[in-house]
Amino acid sequence: MQKKFKLSSTIQCDVLIIGAGGAGLRCAAHILEKRPGTHIIAVTKVSHPQKSHTSTAQGGLAAVDPKDAVDRPIYHMFDTWKGSDCMADQDVVQKIVDAAWEEIVWLENRGMHFTRDEEGRLSKRTFGGHTVRFGEASAFRAVFEADRTGKGIMDNVWGEALKGGVAFLDQTLLTELLIRNDRCVGAVLFMEKTGEFVAVSAKATVLATGGCGQVFRVTTNCRQNTGDAHAVALQAGLPLIDMEAVQFHPTGIVGPGILASETLRSVGGILRNKELDPFMARYAPKMKELAPRDLVARAIETEIREGRGILNPDHNIEHIWIDLRHLSDYVHEVQIPEVSGFFKQFMNLDPRTQLCPVRPSNHYQMGGIPTNAFGEVQRSPDTVIFGLYAAGECGCSSFHGFNRLGTNSILELITMGRFVGERVVLSMDEAAEGLPADAGDKTFSRFAGYLENKKEENIDQIREDMRRMMTENVGVFRAEEGLNTAIHALTVSAERVRGAALRCRSLQMNQELVQRWEIDNLLSVSMVIAQGALRRRESRGGHARVDFPQRRDEFNAHTLACMTEFGKIQFASRPVDMSIFEAKGDNYEKFGLIERKY
Ligand code: FUM
Repeated sequence: MQKKFKLSSTIQCDVLIIGAGGAGLRCAAHILEKRPGTHIIAVTKVSHPQKSHTSTAQGGLAAVDPKDAVDRPIYHMFDTWKGSDCMADQDVVQKIVDAAWEEIVWLENRGMHFTRDEEGRLSKRTFGGHTVRFGEASAFRAVFEADRTGKGIMDNVWGEALKGGVAFLDQTLLTELLIRNDRCVGAVLFMEKTGEFVAVSAKATVLATGGCGQVFRVTTNCRQNTGDAHAVALQAGLPLIDMEAVQFHPTGIVGPGILASETLRSVGGILRNKELDPFMARYAPKMKELAPRDLVARAIETEIREGRGILNPDHNIEHIWIDLRHLSDYVHEVQIPEVSGFFKQFMNLDPRTQLCPVRPSNHYQMGGIPTNAFGEVQRSPDTVIFGLYAAGECGCSSFHGFNRLGTNSILELITMGRFVGERVVLSMDEAAEGLPADAGDKTFSRFAGYLENKKEENIDQIREDMRRMMTENVGVFRAEEGLNTAIHALTVSAERVRGAALRCRSLQMNQELVQRWEIDNLLSVSMVIAQGALRRRESRGGHARVDFPQRRDEFNAHTLACMTEFGKIQFASRPVDMSIFEAKGDNYEKFGLIERKY
């Protein structure tokens, strides 16, 4: 091993949080409220916590107001279960829905500026699949801060973390989890600015790094969402769960795929095809534009595939329209100012007078690092890794099952962040354990390889080819042939990238080095997604197989996938929790294996 590969220091703390977005900092805030003075280090891959992906969330946060005359938590639970295509874990659904309103109050008490109506009440908007009376009518359940809700949340949790004395490490990567005898004792980090590797010893390590949308070429995800914690968990021998359950948001702005919020449909935006036909009535007669995302995304793709799309000459890509022209100035200015601005900025068009081009864009990973309802990371359905937690999009307690409802993600990251904080607080009196003697060795051999390789390859091109290939073969619609093509292409890409030389061989501020590392992560995550999608010979939620178009009861279980060697995956299952159904309480039959019509 070259001399420069060593740990420059070992840092001690109580809690190490990897990812300083909404979930990580909500967790930090809870711990500091309950145990002021806890030494927390929060690591962010980007230059500032405010650049976390949470900041980009637009639409809102679902939570049933206890004072609401028509809405009930049981309706929210039902919608989440139905939306998940019977794959959400019902214990988690109940826990999160029950805690939702407390979190709204918590956020507002700490300065979140939720939009209010003229009487001063919290404004609420409806989102796809949110209903009252078990599907009878749309539920107005999501509170919001205009169409920049995520920014409001980040202002808030970041402020709380600063007040409590969290120490931030920016431009820092998680490269290795340190696990001994099923206990996580900390992690190895790579600090881009100094080019140093450090080990952190912690009583609790929380993974909150967000999703892996950069696997796809067209995505609403930020540049940093490359599935890093997912890949590091796989390297530590841990499983990922339900990675084939990928969400494509129906309305990405054509070309870059930037999110055009579901809010646009909530406030009355209409989807139209080439003939200006408002086609959603043919796919979801009752809910139309406000059907859940998987269904709307498939409807749009079908319109395009059947020749009713419009070709955008700038991007050479087909799309459909969202029509916002009939909405009032008030709606444009007060309810959707940011998204309206995006159309002006990126497409040079005015949504008040012109049709806006959109098509599905990768948006969310329903699967992730498996956890129980407390956010403890699982090695198997019955065992956890002590001291290791995951929350937010990188974790999966399975609140969303195979299709997430709009505004349930912010709810999930805030509540799971708190639940993890609650669990961490309980473990703070335990003594910290020492780090393993080989801490960092795996990281060093990986990074040494990156710097020593000599083969001429264009790393950027491999990355772009991979992302395009995933969008084509593992996108909204999937089939065996395309999935096999994807698995083969990923194997070839991994081989190509393995010996690829870097132009710059410095450890310090070397973006090429970081991108090289990211490709390994993207390839690993893509392989798990593609193989999971091939294995699941059915259609369910966001996983739509044209060769197996029906949901099949034999697949009523979560997928667990371990991959210690690239491409060689061992699969196992985790049962779906159906405790609401099994408790046989009021309306329990709504929580059985119900049909999904909208
Ligand atoms: O469409 C949106 O505003 C996105 C919301 C969400 O993903 O929950």
